[in-house]
Amino acid sequence: MLYSLTHEDIHKGYGILVNRTHPLKADEDSMAGKLSPAVPDPLPGTPYPDVLLEAVAARQLQALLEACGSAGEIIPVSGYRTQKDQEDIYDSSLRENGEEFTKKYVAYPGTSEHQTGLAIDVGKAAEEIDFIRPDFPYEGVCQRFRELAPSFGFIERYQAGREDSTGIAQEPWHFRYVGVPHSLLIAGQDLTMEQYIQWIKQYPSQNPCLLAPGWTVYFLSLPETALQLVLPEEAFLTGNNEDGFIVALPAHAKPVVKSR
Ligand code: DAL
Ligand code: ZN
Repeated sequence: MLYSLTHEDIHKGYGILVNRTHPLKADEDSMAGKLSPAVPDPLPGTPYPDVLLEAVAARQLQALLEACGSAGEIIPVSGYRTQKDQEDIYDSSLRENGEEFTKKYVAYPGTSEHQTGLAIDVGKAAEEIDFIRPDFPYEGVCQRFRELAPSFGFIERYQAGREDSTGIAQEPWHFRYVGVPHSLLIAGQDLTMEQYIQWIKQYPSQNPCLLAPGWTVYFLSLPETALQLVLPEEAFLTGNNEDGFIVALPAHAKPVVKSR
Protein backbone atom coordinates (compact mmCIF):
# COMPACT_ATOMS: atom_id res chain seq x y z
CA MET A 1 0.00 0.00 0.00
CA LEU A 2 1.27 3.44 -0.90
CA TYR A 3 1.26 6.08 1.83
CA SER A 4 1.67 9.74 0.97
CA LEU A 5 2.29 11.36 4.33
CA THR A 6 2.20 15.05 5.09
CA HIS A 7 2.60 17.01 8.31
CA GLU A 8 -1.15 16.88 8.86
CA ASP A 9 -1.01 13.09 9.10
CA ILE A 10 1.23 13.30 12.19
CA HIS A 11 -1.88 14.29 14.13
CA LYS A 12 -3.95 11.25 13.10
CA GLY A 13 -4.09 7.60 14.14
CA TYR A 14 -4.64 5.31 17.09
CA GLY A 15 -1.27 6.11 18.66
CA ILE A 16 -1.49 9.90 18.93
CA LEU A 17 -0.33 11.42 22.19
CA VAL A 18 -2.92 13.87 23.52
CA ASN A 19 -2.13 15.89 26.64
CA ARG A 20 -1.67 19.49 27.80
CA THR A 21 1.41 19.98 25.59
CA HIS A 22 0.00 17.96 22.67
CA PRO A 23 -3.49 19.29 21.99
CA LEU A 24 -5.83 17.56 19.64
CA LYS A 25 -5.40 18.91 16.11
CA ALA A 26 -8.14 17.00 14.27
CA ASP A 27 -11.25 18.85 13.24
CA GLU A 28 -14.29 17.70 15.24
CA ASP A 29 -16.23 17.15 12.01
CA SER A 30 -13.75 14.39 11.10
CA MET A 31 -15.35 12.23 13.83
CA ALA A 32 -18.65 12.11 11.96
CA GLY A 33 -19.45 8.55 10.93
CA LYS A 34 -16.56 7.11 12.96
CA LEU A 35 -18.40 6.66 16.27
CA SER A 36 -20.32 3.66 17.61
CA PRO A 37 -22.08 2.88 20.90
CA ALA A 38 -19.46 1.76 23.45
CA VAL A 39 -21.71 -1.23 24.16
CA PRO A 40 -24.78 -2.06 22.09
CA ASP A 41 -28.12 -2.42 23.89
CA PRO A 42 -27.12 -1.54 27.47
CA LEU A 43 -29.46 -3.08 30.04
CA PRO A 44 -32.54 -0.95 30.85
CA GLY A 45 -31.81 1.36 33.75
CA THR A 46 -28.04 1.33 33.14
CA PRO A 47 -26.55 4.68 34.06
CA TYR A 48 -24.86 6.55 31.17
CA PRO A 49 -26.52 4.53 28.36
CA ASP A 50 -25.38 6.76 25.46
CA VAL A 51 -21.61 6.44 25.60
CA LEU A 52 -19.92 6.57 22.17
CA LEU A 53 -16.45 5.48 21.09
CA GLU A 54 -14.49 5.38 17.84
CA ALA A 55 -15.78 2.27 16.06
CA VAL A 56 -12.68 0.04 16.33
CA ALA A 57 -12.14 1.02 19.96
CA ALA A 58 -15.81 0.18 20.65
CA ARG A 59 -15.49 -3.24 19.04
CA GLN A 60 -12.33 -3.98 21.02
CA LEU A 61 -13.95 -2.78 24.25
CA GLN A 62 -16.85 -5.17 23.69
CA ALA A 63 -14.42 -8.05 23.05
CA LEU A 64 -12.51 -7.15 26.21
CA LEU A 65 -15.68 -7.03 28.33
CA GLU A 66 -16.70 -10.39 26.95
CA ALA A 67 -13.27 -11.89 27.61
CA CYS A 68 -13.40 -10.91 31.27
CA GLY A 69 -16.93 -12.26 31.69
CA SER A 70 -18.12 -8.96 33.10
CA ALA A 71 -21.61 -8.69 31.59
CA GLY A 72 -23.42 -5.99 33.55
CA GLU A 73 -20.61 -5.66 36.12
CA ILE A 74 -18.55 -3.04 34.31
CA ILE A 75 -20.32 0.06 33.02
CA PRO A 76 -18.94 2.49 30.40
CA VAL A 77 -19.33 5.91 32.00
CA SER A 78 -17.75 8.36 29.56
CA GLY A 79 -16.31 7.92 26.07
CA TYR A 80 -16.26 10.39 23.20
CA ARG A 81 -16.66 14.03 24.20
CA THR A 82 -16.98 17.07 21.96
CA GLN A 83 -15.04 20.26 22.71
CA LYS A 84 -18.29 21.66 24.15
CA ASP A 85 -18.77 18.58 26.35
CA GLN A 86 -15.22 18.92 27.70
CA GLU A 87 -15.71 22.66 28.32
CA ASP A 88 -18.95 21.98 30.21
CA ILE A 89 -17.33 19.23 32.31
CA TYR A 90 -14.30 21.43 33.04
CA ASP A 91 -16.39 24.46 33.99
CA SER A 92 -18.85 22.54 36.16
CA SER A 93 -15.98 20.79 37.93
CA LEU A 94 -14.30 24.16 38.56
CA ARG A 95 -17.53 25.39 40.15
CA GLU A 96 -18.27 22.24 42.14
CA ASN A 97 -14.82 20.88 42.99
CA GLY A 98 -12.43 23.82 42.67
CA GLU A 99 -9.29 24.37 40.64
CA GLU A 100 -6.91 21.92 42.33
CA PHE A 101 -9.25 18.94 41.88
CA THR A 102 -10.20 19.93 38.33
CA LYS A 103 -6.59 20.22 37.13
CA LYS A 104 -5.89 16.76 38.57
CA TYR A 105 -8.86 14.95 37.04
CA VAL A 106 -10.21 16.90 34.07
CA ALA A 107 -8.09 17.65 31.01
CA TYR A 108 -8.17 21.22 29.78
CA PRO A 109 -10.65 21.47 26.85
CA GLY A 110 -8.88 20.70 23.59
CA THR A 111 -6.34 18.44 25.33
CA SER A 112 -8.54 15.55 26.45
CA GLU A 113 -8.10 12.06 25.04
CA HIS A 114 -11.88 11.74 25.28
CA GLN A 115 -12.12 14.14 22.33
CA THR A 116 -10.38 11.54 20.13
CA GLY A 117 -13.07 8.90 20.77
CA LEU A 118 -10.27 6.59 21.91
CA ALA A 119 -10.65 6.96 25.71
CA ILE A 120 -13.15 5.18 27.89
CA ASP A 121 -13.93 5.62 31.57
CA VAL A 122 -15.35 2.49 33.13
CA GLY A 123 -17.03 2.01 36.50
CA LYS A 124 -17.94 -0.94 38.67
CA ALA A 125 -21.71 -1.40 38.40
CA ALA A 126 -23.50 0.36 41.27
CA GLU A 127 -26.69 2.31 41.79
CA GLU A 128 -24.71 5.55 41.72
CA ILE A 129 -21.54 5.92 39.68
CA ASP A 130 -19.50 9.10 39.97
CA PHE A 131 -19.07 10.67 36.52
CA ILE A 132 -15.61 12.18 37.03
CA ARG A 133 -14.11 9.55 39.32
CA PRO A 134 -15.96 6.22 38.93
CA ASP A 135 -14.97 3.44 41.29
CA PHE A 136 -12.85 0.84 39.44
CA PRO A 137 -10.97 -1.18 42.07
CA TYR A 138 -7.75 -3.16 41.67
CA GLU A 139 -9.52 -6.44 42.40
CA GLY A 140 -12.18 -8.79 41.09
CA VAL A 141 -13.69 -8.28 37.66
CA CYS A 142 -12.27 -4.75 37.36
CA GLN A 143 -8.73 -6.04 37.87
CA ARG A 144 -9.39 -8.79 35.34
CA PHE A 145 -10.40 -6.10 32.84
CA ARG A 146 -7.22 -4.15 33.64
CA GLU A 147 -4.97 -7.17 33.16
CA LEU A 148 -6.56 -8.24 29.87
CA ALA A 149 -6.80 -4.69 28.48
CA PRO A 150 -3.39 -4.61 26.68
CA SER A 151 -4.24 -7.76 24.70
CA PHE A 152 -7.21 -5.84 23.29
CA GLY A 153 -5.29 -2.65 22.52
CA PHE A 154 -6.07 -0.65 25.69
CA ILE A 155 -3.75 0.81 28.33
CA GLU A 156 -4.45 2.08 31.82
CA ARG A 157 -3.46 5.62 30.99
CA TYR A 158 -3.00 7.47 34.29
CA GLN A 159 -1.26 5.33 36.88
CA ALA A 160 -0.12 6.17 40.40
CA GLY A 161 3.30 7.80 40.65
CA ARG A 162 3.30 8.89 36.97
CA GLU A 163 1.75 12.30 37.49
CA ASP A 164 4.97 14.10 36.52
CA SER A 165 4.88 12.35 33.15
CA THR A 166 1.15 12.43 32.37
CA GLY A 167 0.14 15.67 34.13
CA ILE A 168 -2.97 13.90 35.47
CA ALA A 169 -3.59 12.23 38.86
CA GLN A 170 -4.10 8.47 39.19
CA GLU A 171 -7.28 7.47 37.32
CA PRO A 172 -7.90 3.72 37.76
CA TRP A 173 -11.00 4.02 35.54
CA HIS A 174 -9.54 5.68 32.41
CA PHE A 175 -8.38 3.43 29.57
CA ARG A 176 -7.04 4.53 26.22
CA TYR A 177 -7.22 2.55 23.01
CA VAL A 178 -3.87 2.67 21.19
CA GLY A 179 -4.12 -0.69 19.41
CA VAL A 180 -1.95 -3.78 19.56
CA PRO A 181 1.11 -3.92 19.58
CA HIS A 182 1.51 -0.44 21.13
CA SER A 183 -0.61 -1.47 24.14
CA LEU A 184 1.59 -4.57 24.65
CA LEU A 185 4.78 -2.51 24.45
CA ILE A 186 3.51 0.26 26.74
CA ALA A 187 2.31 -2.23 29.38
CA GLY A 188 5.24 -4.63 28.92
CA GLN A 189 7.86 -1.89 29.23
CA ASP A 190 5.85 -0.17 32.00
CA LEU A 191 5.81 3.18 30.23
CA THR A 192 3.38 6.04 30.15
CA MET A 193 2.08 7.07 26.74
CA GLU A 194 4.32 10.16 27.01
CA GLN A 195 7.37 7.95 27.64
CA TYR A 196 6.45 5.51 24.85
CA ILE A 197 6.33 8.27 22.25
CA GLN A 198 9.95 9.21 23.15
CA TRP A 199 11.18 5.62 23.79
CA ILE A 200 10.13 4.28 20.39
CA LYS A 201 12.30 6.93 18.69
CA GLN A 202 15.41 4.86 19.53
CA TYR A 203 14.09 2.33 16.99
CA PRO A 204 14.29 3.65 13.42
CA SER A 205 13.48 1.35 10.50
CA GLN A 206 17.14 0.16 10.27
CA ASN A 207 17.03 -0.94 13.94
CA PRO A 208 13.39 -1.83 14.67
CA CYS A 209 11.91 -2.81 18.02
CA LEU A 210 11.18 -6.54 18.32
CA LEU A 211 10.08 -6.53 21.97
CA ALA A 212 6.41 -7.21 21.21
CA PRO A 213 6.55 -10.85 20.05
CA GLY A 214 5.26 -11.28 16.51
CA TRP A 215 5.69 -7.60 15.68
CA THR A 216 8.25 -5.29 14.16
CA VAL A 217 7.75 -1.70 15.31
CA TYR A 218 9.71 1.39 14.29
CA PHE A 219 9.67 5.15 14.31
CA LEU A 220 9.62 7.19 11.16
CA SER A 221 10.37 10.89 11.29
CA LEU A 222 8.83 13.08 8.65
CA PRO A 223 11.25 15.10 6.55
CA GLU A 224 10.52 18.76 5.89
CA THR A 225 8.53 17.83 2.84
CA ALA A 226 5.99 15.06 2.39
CA LEU A 227 7.02 11.40 2.45
CA GLN A 228 5.94 8.57 0.21
CA LEU A 229 6.36 5.01 1.32
CA VAL A 230 5.11 1.57 0.44
CA LEU A 231 4.16 -0.80 3.26
CA PRO A 232 2.60 -4.28 3.28
CA GLU A 233 -1.21 -4.31 3.45
CA GLU A 234 -1.04 -5.68 7.01
CA ALA A 235 0.99 -2.71 8.33
CA PHE A 236 -0.45 -0.29 10.88
CA LEU A 237 0.73 3.27 10.77
CA THR A 238 -0.09 6.03 13.22
CA GLY A 239 1.02 9.59 13.76
CA ASN A 240 2.42 10.44 17.20
CA ASN A 241 0.93 13.98 17.35
CA GLU A 242 4.47 15.28 17.78
CA ASP A 243 6.97 14.81 14.97
CA GLY A 244 6.48 11.57 13.08
CA PHE A 245 4.91 8.15 12.76
CA ILE A 246 5.08 4.72 14.32
CA VAL A 247 4.88 1.73 11.97
CA ALA A 248 3.89 -1.73 13.21
CA LEU A 249 4.25 -4.79 11.02
CA PRO A 250 2.89 -8.18 12.04
CA ALA A 251 5.41 -11.00 11.55
CA HIS A 252 3.22 -12.61 8.90
CA ALA A 253 3.18 -9.45 6.76
CA LYS A 254 4.11 -10.29 3.21
CA PRO A 255 7.09 -8.29 1.96
CA VAL A 256 6.21 -5.72 -0.64
CA VAL A 257 7.40 -6.84 -4.04
CA LYS A 258 8.27 -3.79 -6.05
CA SER A 259 7.54 -4.05 -9.73
CA ARG A 260 10.43 -3.13 -12.01
N1 DAL B 1 -10.09 12.70 32.97
C1 DAL B 1 -9.24 12.88 31.82
C2 DAL B 1 -7.87 13.36 32.20
C3 DAL B 1 -9.88 13.80 30.81
O1 DAL B 1 -10.65 14.67 31.20
O2 DAL B 1 -9.56 13.67 29.65
ZN1 ZN C 1 -11.38 9.51 31.25
